[in-house]
Amino acid sequence: MYIVFLISSGVLHAVVCLHNRKFPPGFQFGAATSAYQIEGAWNVSDKGESICDRFSRDHPELITDKSNAEVACDSYRKWRVDIQAVQDLGLDFYRFSTAWTRLLPTGFSNEISKDGVNYYNNLINGLLEKNIKPIITLYHWDLPQRLQDLGGWTNPLIADWFEQYADVVFRLFGDRVKMWVTINEPLLMCDFNYNTGTLAPRIKDPDTATYLCTKHVLIAHAKAWRLYDRKYRHKYHGILSIANHVVWFDPLTPKHEDEAELAREYTVGRYAHPIYSKEGGWPKVIEQKMTEYSKKKGFPTSRLPAFTPEEIKLVRGSYDYFAINYYTSRLVRKALPGDEAAVFFDTGAPELGLTFIKDPNWPSGGHNFIPSYPKGLRSIISWLKQKYGNLHFFISENGYGNFDSGLDDYDRVEYFHQHLEQVLHSIHDDHANVTGFTAWTLMDNYEWLSGYTLRFGLYHVDFTNPERKRTPRASAHYIAKTVKKRTLETPVKKQHTQSQAQNGKSKTNVNLFCLLISVTVIVCTKYF
Ligand SMILES: *[C@@H]1O[C@H](CO)[C@@H](O)[C@H](O)[C@H]1NC(C)=O
Ligand SMILES: *[C@@H]1O[C@H](CO)[C@@H](O)[C@H](O)[C@H]1NC(C)=O
Repeated sequence: MYIVFLISSGVLHAVVCLHNRKFPPGFQFGAATSAYQIEGAWNVSDKGESICDRFSRDHPELITDKSNAEVACDSYRKWRVDIQAVQDLGLDFYRFSTAWTRLLPTGFSNEISKDGVNYYNNLINGLLEKNIKPIITLYHWDLPQRLQDLGGWTNPLIADWFEQYADVVFRLFGDRVKMWVTINEPLLMCDFNYNTGTLAPRIKDPDTATYLCTKHVLIAHAKAWRLYDRKYRHKYHGILSIANHVVWFDPLTPKHEDEAELAREYTVGRYAHPIYSKEGGWPKVIEQKMTEYSKKKGFPTSRLPAFTPEEIKLVRGSYDYFAINYYTSRLVRKALPGDEAAVFFDTGAPELGLTFIKDPNWPSGGHNFIPSYPKGLRSIISWLKQKYGNLHFFISENGYGNFDSGLDDYDRVEYFHQHLEQVLHSIHDDHANVTGFTAWTLMDNYEWLSGYTLRFGLYHVDFTNPERKRTPRASAHYIAKTVKKRTLETPVKKQHTQSQAQNGKSKTNVNLFCLLISVTVIVCTKYF
């Protein structure tokens, strides 16, 4: 009798264990890129100049390998190869961005480029023919230079210009594109750009520009979302979100929990609370601190611009899902005298009195800004769920950069494996509604200040070859296998050279491992 019970509970446990390695039905996998980083063809036909074009032409000395993105992956010509690469991985979707200046050469919607429209039509139709869902990001940092000359994201009119651009893109492609990201990573666009002044438009103004940008991005996103809601939703039934770069903050020791929470509200809440919370507006604690510290610095009003009641209403609820870009985490403690001011990324808002620390034990791929901490992904999803409810969460980026151009990228395989494992914990243990995962990035591309030295690709790209040949790495094979089985795969070294034999073996290993754990658990619970 007892033996029967033991065996049946063992089987049950094994079933649960295997179930927990499965992605739920309907879970979607994809990969992402952005226009400036892959397209090249910066000056073909009537394409206008973007701030990225201007920056890399004027400042090659600031790029690690003095390179520019005038050709990049040449995706403007090689879009068929890109579609093939996505198809070879068996992905459900491909997330790419439209270049504002390719569609609207002047930045304004009075002129639309025929060639630009053709390019994206070809890409979208080519993907759909292969049964791959296109997901479009409207803005991935390549602002028209002309709009920058008018103040760019610090000018409140940017919200109207963005809305007009969005209107054109929805009108052109909305019949075929059902999932949208309005703006990619405002934390990088506003905080990183204006706090450091290192990326285009190379303006360092952490006191003011950062917060003007924060507010105007939120208004621009909301206007685009409301426009879609009014004008397109009833016929196209698409879903829209802004893609927030979320960072998880763990307290350095339990007594720094208040500091960690302040860091979360400042870095994540500042961009999420106005949209996703019931009451809207800035997180109270951030509003209050910013007012206090602005006063201390002699400003008559808060540097974090207030929302009017109408703006609060406009922004609140302007979402259909929550797009999460997750790469890294930080430890937090109270700042000590002499600490370098540290708000993600690097400098800025030193008045919050926080110090961010990168745990030296987190692997980093040789650069120092995005060390890997997989548990942070589960923690931030739980935090968002607790703050804003069990939204429809979608991982719109996750990926690993290193300076290794080889194909045996087992460190990247490990990174994806560990993060996917946390996604499964979020789904099965925390009951968070996570519906998709996007690998950054489909292929090596122009990685901003690092040029072509820092690589994130599932595919290796040979930038010395005029054909810009794409070759799948071990991580590409790992992702393809995961997508095919819809199950968390245990990474196996050298799987891409001896795939058949190894595939079978790794599955057996998983099953045996699961069974072993089950038996151990049962023996432990029954006898001890
Ligand atoms: C476009 O830029 C390339 C350099 O990337 C240059 O060789 C070419 O002449 C330019 N074409 C036009 C039409 O300006
Ligand atoms: C998760 O979100 C999707 C998309 O909105 C929805 O269709 C599904 O019903 C949700 N699932 C749960 C368990 O809430």
